[in-house]
Amino acid sequence: MRTHLPNPRTTDPRRARTASALSIFLIALLAGSCPAPPKPQPPYKPLATLEEVMHGMVIPNAHVVWKSVGTIITKEGTEEIRPKTEDDWIDIEASATILMEAGNLLMMEGRAKDNGKWYDLCRALVDAGDGVRQAAKSKDPEQLFTRGGYLFDACQACHFQYRFTEKDPNTFRSH
Ligand code: HEC
Repeated sequence: MRTHLPNPRTTDPRRARTASALSIFLIALLAGSCPAPPKPQPPYKPLATLEEVMHGMVIPNAHVVWKSVGTIITKEGTEEIRPKTEDDWIDIEASATILMEAGNLLMMEGRAKDNGKWYDLCRALVDAGDGVRQAAKSKDPEQLFTRGGYLFDACQACHFQYRFTEKDPNTFRSH
């Protein structure tokens, strides 16, 4: 009778084979891991210029948002502008969605002016657009007004940096 069990790792030929197969696999894995093959990039095709994105997407949809809420004070009296119908809210939400995603489109290679500050300012447009979107989803006119203001700030922040200072540092404009 044996006093102790043999070590199955060294004595069982099947296990020994598995172990060596495993180490070969690990070596292959290590060898394969450097250098990693480049991740395939999605085939983006940014055709519109920055100006075309501004005119085709950003400007008209910002106007939908800004015109939707406010107060007009004249000699004749005060007029409160608010979205009225379900369709009004749906239109505002759709415009906010376009503004939000336009921020992502502006980050694409070919439109991005650099890989730093530009991204932050595009992200600000994404966040501002999302803020308006949430206000439209919850049909909240006060929030819509406030976040419409944040949207304006996002436009300005980028324009001061890239639209005016780049073209003519002496130009000052309010929007
Ligand atoms: C991330 C940067 C950025 C953001 C955010 C941005 N813009 Fe612009 N915008 C520009 C640049 C750069 C130009 C100048 C393009 C050029 O002249 O080549 C421009 C130009 C414009 C113009 C002038 C177009 C013309 O024909 O000269 C308007 C109007 C405009 N933007 C409106 C807006 C509005 C409204 C928003 C916000 C809802 C906004 N932009 C957000 C970068 C931005």
